[in-house]
Amino acid sequence: MTDTASDRLAELTLEEKASLCLGSDFWHTRAVERLGIPAIMVSDGPHGLRKQPAEADHLGLSGSVPATCFPTASALGSSWDPGLVQQVGEALGRECVEQEVAVLLGPGINIKRSPLCGRNFEYFAEDPLLAGVLGTAMVRGIQSQGVGASLKHYAANNQETDRLRVSAEVDERTLREIYLPAFERVVTEAQPWTVMCAYNKVNGTYASEHTWLLTDVLRGEWGFTGLVVSDWGAVHDRVAALAAGLDLEMPPNLGVSDAAVVAAVRAGELDEAVLDRTVQRVLALVDRAPVAAAGEPVDADAHHRLARAVAGQCAVLLKNDGILPLEPAAGDSIAVVGEFARTPRYQGAGSSQVNPTRVDVALDELRAAVPDGVEVAFAAGFGIDSTDDDEALAAEAVALAGRCGTVVAFLGLPASAESEGFDRSHIDLPANQTSLVASLAAANPRLVVVLANGSAVRLAGWDHHAGAVLECWLSGQAAGGAAADLLLGAVNPSGRLAETLPVRLEDSPSYLNFPGEAGHVRYGEGVFVGYRGYDALARDVRYPFGHGLSYTTFAYSDLAAEIFGGGDVAVTCRVTNTGDRSGQEVAQLYVGDPVASVARPVRELKSFQKLDLAAGESEVVTFELAARDLSYWSTKTSGWVLEGGDFEIAVGASSRDLRLTTTVEVDAPPVQEPLGGMSTLLEWLADPGGAAAVRAAFGTDESGRPRGILGDEETLKVIGSFPLSTLAAFPGVGIDAAAVHSLVEKVGAGAG
Ligand code: BGC
Repeated sequence: MTDTASDRLAELTLEEKASLCLGSDFWHTRAVERLGIPAIMVSDGPHGLRKQPAEADHLGLSGSVPATCFPTASALGSSWDPGLVQQVGEALGRECVEQEVAVLLGPGINIKRSPLCGRNFEYFAEDPLLAGVLGTAMVRGIQSQGVGASLKHYAANNQETDRLRVSAEVDERTLREIYLPAFERVVTEAQPWTVMCAYNKVNGTYASEHTWLLTDVLRGEWGFTGLVVSDWGAVHDRVAALAAGLDLEMPPNLGVSDAAVVAAVRAGELDEAVLDRTVQRVLALVDRAPVAAAGEPVDADAHHRLARAVAGQCAVLLKNDGILPLEPAAGDSIAVVGEFARTPRYQGAGSSQVNPTRVDVALDELRAAVPDGVEVAFAAGFGIDSTDDDEALAAEAVALAGRCGTVVAFLGLPASAESEGFDRSHIDLPANQTSLVASLAAANPRLVVVLANGSAVRLAGWDHHAGAVLECWLSGQAAGGAAADLLLGAVNPSGRLAETLPVRLEDSPSYLNFPGEAGHVRYGEGVFVGYRGYDALARDVRYPFGHGLSYTTFAYSDLAAEIFGGGDVAVTCRVTNTGDRSGQEVAQLYVGDPVASVARPVRELKSFQKLDLAAGESEVVTFELAARDLSYWSTKTSGWVLEGGDFEIAVGASSRDLRLTTTVEVDAPPVQEPLGGMSTLLEWLADPGGAAAVRAAFGTDESGRPRGILGDEETLKVIGSFPLSTLAAFPGVGIDAAAVHSLVEKVGAGAG
């Protein structure tokens, strides 16, 4: 049978092959009708399908067919629940199959480097393990339906400012430890059908032309076998991009990019084998695409219910003095304040914006869910898009708060404050909202705040007025229903922060290096991103990474850790639900290497598990770590290095609520670097073989004392850090160039 597209490679003309390396329009690959090769459709992504109908604009900005808007990654990241995220992926996949979309453009797994990034709502976490585990689950879910995912944006796309040109200046250790591991995990564990390259440059080279990223690392090291697609408009030199490993240009620069490829092959500047390899990948993708409308029709009601259930698992209860859950009885009154209770904000703007099948309104949901005889009254309190104090609205809300038993204020960021395409300049809620909180609390101290925002906001300065704060993020079309479920206790909050909420923006580790200038953004904080930075600088934070409360409580006990040869570590501990209702706890395991030869974070998340425990129930959790989890990336050896010594293993409920700590001792040989003429005298002396050879070369005097500076402790301290070759040129040191030469010949080559 030769009816697959892949079988047609040999029959394609050079022009047809070149044309397959770009799309045919904004959302389709190119068909070759003469050979029966169909076009396939791709669409955004990532938390809902944004399929534009054929008659839509060609910029990709206008409306799309109705689809379920699931919680955005800002919310999904806080679930810490790969099983749940996989279910969302499966639902997204079903909607793609029904709409004949072959590839969904998501998930986005870039690291939240700064709270200001305009697209943080599309990304999971400030931590690569969490982003990678959830990204893997999402890709598995989507692809389980026979639809492809597109893992984006590869790599170092951590801001919107100048995103099409800026060069992310980031050292290799930081790339390897922070910005690449989530991509590595998803690629190696879930094999996404496609990876989308980023717009930006990485260390001076466009991601779309970055051979090291697209070919050496992605394919060579991680074994990626799928297709690399450009972000929309990321290709500047089609031939250079093709040679670097970029397979499909979207949207197509028709008549220009294809012509350039043909010309380059004809001129002998591009090996036709490179083109063939790319075309093969495009054809393989076409072959994988689902056959038209093969799936069951989507049950929009079921997907809406799923969206609500998922949103309920994502909200983070930041504080609670016991006011939540509300348990209203007939005769009670609740003042619902805040325009967001009536006009929900549940998704962000830009390419991820979904046309929802329906939208829950929190006010309506609360009214429907409270018992008979409970009054739920409403006052807007503020206008969403005005930042000035609207005194009449505020006065009305305060009066209502004063006459009701409890106040629930729905606050959040206006849509205009965060979006794809630009970064934020501050992290404050609008002043008309924060001043309202103070007035509401003065009128009625029984105050709950519910937040809708896609990225970190500043809470210091106003959250002390509230008895409870529930961070719901941008939680999709059923956010309103989920908020009612959480407030009334039908659902027990179980989200945990996937990003630190700082006291002040100025405290964030990337603050001085964001968003860069003159076309460059220097990742000056290195590996100290998010909690890694706050902890290293011992800075107070408002709410730490991993934090989140529940309506029940959990206790940790019986921590044990065992290390095996090769650096594998097995850790167990017991987690017990000590409260009176069932709930979910996220047990988090952090590792630290307090004495290391490079600057390392105080602690790093290396494993976690979300547990569902009935009241009084107890479970023993097992975490498995590998040597890589204890290692750092060495730029000297271009590899992961496991150093010997004590490592701290801490388990707890957040990065700053570590309940149990133990130590494991790693037995590993010291890192041996090759000795050469440019190695310092002290480095030679620190190496057993090197020391013996150097001592022999210096020799001893009649009394047996080492000659030259080896016999003079004080001088050795001062100039021991000089390279051996440099010292050899100094008269009276005790060693000359010929001796250094023979030392290097003898010892240097063998060392390391
Ligand atoms: C975004 C991508 C998106 C693409 C297609 C780009 O501007 O960066 O995330 O998938 O447009 O809409």
